[in-house]
Amino acid sequence: MRNYSNERVSTGIEGLDEVMLGGYIRQNAYLVTGQAGTGKTTLCLHFLEEGSRNGEPTLFVSFGEKAEQIMKNAKKLGMKLENVEFLDLSPSPDFFARAEMYDVFSPAEVEREPVVKSIVSKAEELAPKRVVVDSMTQLRYLSSDIFLFRKQVLSFIRFLTEGGATVLFTAEASGDAPDDDLRFLADGIIELSMDEIGSSVEVSKSRG
Ligand SMILES: Nc1ncnc2c1ncn2[C@@H]1O[C@H](COP(=O)(O)OP(=O)(O)OP(=O)(O)O)[C@@H](O)[C@H]1O
Ligand SMILES: [Mg+2]
Repeated sequence: MRNYSNERVSTGIEGLDEVMLGGYIRQNAYLVTGQAGTGKTTLCLHFLEEGSRNGEPTLFVSFGEKAEQIMKNAKKLGMKLENVEFLDLSPSPDFFARAEMYDVFSPAEVEREPVVKSIVSKAEELAPKRVVVDSMTQLRYLSSDIFLFRKQVLSFIRFLTEGGATVLFTAEASGDAPDDDLRFLADGIIELSMDEIGSSVEVSKSRG
């Protein structure tokens, strides 16, 4: 069931909790967006670390960076992610070996089914309270058309939130590949940016 109370879940970052009036709304889904290297993955890891500290089942679904790489970087920042479950769906070396298949089928047809299945079975097994999908942009390339992608993302998010999870999903936005559709789907948006002055975080949408 979807949660209609406005109970807050700590973001794992003190200052962000303050901005978010206590944290993310439980069982809502937030888009974490920003250019490359602005700290999207790191912000999401704080959220999972906080959950695992509280003994909650937490899941990190990685479509881009390898799980080991993420763990290594997190360790350098002093984070403890031992109890965070990682589902590594980043491209494996045999992705290239299978390249021939893509001449016959579109990547969408070849990849989508197993990807969705492995996330669903992991989520059913773990019943996570906190889920991060990094990044949802990667899932876009597995959809053969944009309407199908939106429908899939929406049902994917519903599946996770109605199962009891608060969800963060990241996206890389650029001029020729905007993330407008993901912005509409999200209950809230956390935008990270970096310029000469420094790094900043902005909450540009917050339902509830
Ligand atoms: N608040 C912060 N203060 C200092 N360093 C940070 C902060 N957040 C992230 N970093 C560092 O910046 C680098 C990039 O962070 P991160 O990988 O989280 O960014 P990203 O937006 O996920 O990048 P990408 O677009 O490549 O996925 C990392 O080395 C990380 O340790
Ligand atoms: Mg990242």
